[in-house]
Amino acid sequence: MERVISGIRPTGNLHLGNYFGAVKSFVKMQDEYDCMFFIADWHSLTTHPTPENIRNSVKTILSEYLACGIDPEKAPIYVQSDVKQVLELYLYLNMNAYLGELERVTSFKEKVRKQPDNVNAGLLTYPCLMAADILMHKADKVPVGKDQEQNMEMARLFARRFNRIYNVEYFKEPASFYFADKAVKVPGLDGTGKMGKSEGNCLYLCDDEKTVTKKIMRAVTDQGPTQLNQEKPEVIQNLFTLCELLSGKEAADYYNDQYNNMTIRYGDMKKQMAADANTLLAPIRERILAYSSDDALLDRIMRQGAEAASARAEKTIEEVREIIGFRKI
Ligand code: AMP
Ligand code: TRP
Repeated sequence: MERVISGIRPTGNLHLGNYFGAVKSFVKMQDEYDCMFFIADWHSLTTHPTPENIRNSVKTILSEYLACGIDPEKAPIYVQSDVKQVLELYLYLNMNAYLGELERVTSFKEKVRKQPDNVNAGLLTYPCLMAADILMHKADKVPVGKDQEQNMEMARLFARRFNRIYNVEYFKEPASFYFADKAVKVPGLDGTGKMGKSEGNCLYLCDDEKTVTKKIMRAVTDQGPTQLNQEKPEVIQNLFTLCELLSGKEAADYYNDQYNNMTIRYGDMKKQMAADANTLLAPIRERILAYSSDDALLDRIMRQGAEAASARAEKTIEEVREIIGFRKI
């Protein structure tokens, strides 16, 4: 059976971008593939969280994964830092990664811009750690959002390069997997760019009903179309993208016709989006509350996940050590 791996950094609550970009695929895939999902807590160190931040966020993401429907019986969930073999593979991959190519990664350049006082080496080698997460499992498919495509290309590059340097056919090139027919980029409620924690434009899975409605009703729009069949400006296109995700294609087409004949009332469209968002999120919200208060269950799931992932990781590391020329330990 094909193997699937994916992870999310624990840097706050999951939002709709995470859900439509990643977690929804996780839930779909667990029935058809050999899946494992993890919480990328080492990656989150690139932004220097406090110990308290890390502890709480790991628990939060785990509860949210479960609330979205990931079933640890089908797909073990583990915490990245519980599987220390990943570090060894990270080290080997670092030795074959070059400064120039790492500096050219867009997300690195973005971080340099966003946190100029903290351009640490972990940020630079972020793609090496991510490749280690993936190659460790010899994953065939990695469900991620569009923003991860460059990191995925790096993972494929590192796999090919390792094989070439050691003249082996060892690592497979992992494919990105998108739940929809193309990669999703969920736009933010401010009408620009993508929904993201650091952008402050998110609808969180744990937001209560009132907050969901308020945030959607306040989503940025314009004065409305001034000509028939007018091309949509970016803010409006983004609202339609969100509408299709939340309310479905039929609803988006319906409002699209109204846009084209200039009868659209954004307020009506948003009301429907808010109602559909609440229908989607109400049961998830309830389950988040239940899971996050059950520490014993969360601990058990993390322990079982770590065991499953470590067993696989150990096998890979033994083989990699042998290929590179290290002694068996
Ligand atoms: P992050 O929250 O940036 O750690 O992302 C975790 C996962 O969610 C990755 O697979 C991202 O590609 C996905 N993701 C985050 N934000 C978005 C977004 N606005 N649209 C689509 N996917 C996203
Ligand atoms: N870089 C991913 C993100 O920011 C998180 C991540 C780390 C990941 N390692 C991974 C995703 C391995 C998929 C596979 O969202």
